[in-house]
Amino acid sequence: MSATSSAPSTTRIALRGDLLDFTGDPAWGEVDAADVRWRPDHWLLIESGRITGVQADAPPAGWERHDHRGRLILPGFIDTHVHMPQLDMIASYGTELLDWLNTYTFPAEIRFADPERSQAGAALFLGALLANGTTSAVVFPTAHKVSADALFAGAQQRGMRIVTGKVLQDRHSPDGLRDDVVQAERDCIDLIQRWHGRDRLAYAVTVRFAPTSTPEQLAMAGALCASDATLYMQTHVAENRDEVQWVRELFPEARSYLDVYTRAGLMHRRSVLAHGVWLDDDDRATLRETGAHIAHSPSSNLFLGSGLFDWRAAVNSGAAVSLASDVGGGTSLSMIRTMGDAYKVQAMGGQRLTAWKALHAATLGAAQALQLEHEIGALEPGRVADLAIWDWAVEPVGHRRMEVARSLHEKAFAWMTLADDRNLVETWVAGVARHRRPTA
Ligand code: GUN
Ligand code: ZN
Repeated sequence: MSATSSAPSTTRIALRGDLLDFTGDPAWGEVDAADVRWRPDHWLLIESGRITGVQADAPPAGWERHDHRGRLILPGFIDTHVHMPQLDMIASYGTELLDWLNTYTFPAEIRFADPERSQAGAALFLGALLANGTTSAVVFPTAHKVSADALFAGAQQRGMRIVTGKVLQDRHSPDGLRDDVVQAERDCIDLIQRWHGRDRLAYAVTVRFAPTSTPEQLAMAGALCASDATLYMQTHVAENRDEVQWVRELFPEARSYLDVYTRAGLMHRRSVLAHGVWLDDDDRATLRETGAHIAHSPSSNLFLGSGLFDWRAAVNSGAAVSLASDVGGGTSLSMIRTMGDAYKVQAMGGQRLTAWKALHAATLGAAQALQLEHEIGALEPGRVADLAIWDWAVEPVGHRRMEVARSLHEKAFAWMTLADDRNLVETWVAGVARHRRPTA
């Protein structure tokens, strides 16, 4: 489906289906959580792109009705950490993080200096998000200003909620992918002025990771954050053991990897830190105190052999956790796959992740972590109508599994584990159907 305009529909639209969302954060391990809101066979009412009501009865005449009886309607997924240019090298063989960056990632990202590559890459990427039921994302483009411009413009055209910003990296990076402090600051300020707070877009001060920024650049990024508390900050932290050791050598004065960011003024309520596999209790306390949060990226952590994130320890310390694909370290833009991988990572640590905890982290939990809960993450009057309509099952094994499921959690967990993009019927952004399942 083509994206032609960002204007929300003025039609009164009613969608019928099984509505599932959250009113709060389900407790760890609780399958009967009270925060799960289950409204089977209800009508979701949408006016001017926003949800205006939810009811069991059919709406009166004058409403455009879409009958998806027997289908699941969820808030649009929120992917809190993903790389737009890395679709060019997703699924690359045989390396851990630092080699992977040098061998595959940096060469692919250099190509985004070209505005046409950036524009085509952004269009491919945003279309692929929608084709996986993801309506909001926190995204890395590349170090090139044009790649951020292309991503903002593409998201604006589709009416999507996107948080992004030009990547800062002024050392330990190849020619064509290195910036410098003065020009980078100018680019950031210009992008902030043109895009931050415009429509559904927000700017994130985007530090690639500590090793690729000089202390001077980190200080510049911290000063940008201090200049405007509505700006986001995104980076990577403590993903891989060799990376952690490298940071120790580069920043001997810092207590930990996370402390490098704290010292630079980068830890605040709108900071999104990918991975955090190798954090300690003091780091987790810092996360709680600053309100910064971890974008857990299980697919990427498995694929790159980075390690097993301890979600339970984060919960116990009061640090917030959202879910992220981290494509191209991650191997799929599907948040369903991501949830399935998250369950397996916790299982490897002797823990069990409920479907509720996973679904919450990909919807309302992410919205709250991003301070966007007034806009996204729930099927609630006042929120923007960002949602996806899913089939519970599309093939015989899935149908049989749904048939014998005894509880709502069992059904939701089996769905989360077995479903994929074939199950996705439609993705709606601000009350507009932006993706429809291709018909055979
Ligand atoms: N650390 C620094 N850059 C990257 C990246 O592009 N992907 C991942 N997974 N980790 C990083
Ligand atoms: Zn990443």
